[in-house]
Amino acid sequence: MKHGFGLLFVVPFACAATVMHEAVAQSFPPALVQQGAEIFAANCAVCHGNHMKNPPWAIDLATFPRDEPMRFVNSVTDGVRNMPPWGDVLKPDDIKALWAYVVEGEKGN
Ligand code: HEC
Repeated sequence: MKHGFGLLFVVPFACAATVMHEAVAQSFPPALVQQGAEIFAANCAVCHGNHMKNPPWAIDLATFPRDEPMRFVNSVTDGVRNMPPWGDVLKPDDIKALWAYVVEGEKGN
């Protein structure tokens, strides 16, 4: 019997990296980032540092993985270990604005 299985093993599967990159390279309207900055200053800066710089005792949010928006929303809404939950204080839109601020950082200021 003659057959040619060889070709089956050269099927490309190299596009996953491109998709990841696009998910990370998102951008947000400046007004949303500004809103997030204000919510951050009022609620988060005491632990995570003014303008996300030199956090007094919580983690540095500049190191939070940019490709995990759902983890951000869940951690902020429900709390995690030493961080209190914010779901009763902040609306989902507020948390979206915070995400925009964390991702865009302090670049604009
Ligand atoms: C009372 C102090 C405190 C305040 C206020 C606070 N955090 Fe935190 N936060 C922490 C601590 C402590 C951790 C580290 C939790 C751990 O891993 O033990 C943390 C962790 C996090 C994480 C990482 C969660 C993860 O999945 O790894 C995010 C995101 C975060 N905070 C966002 C916020 C945002 C946004 C606000 C403002 C709404 C806020 N925090 C306010 C103390 C605080």
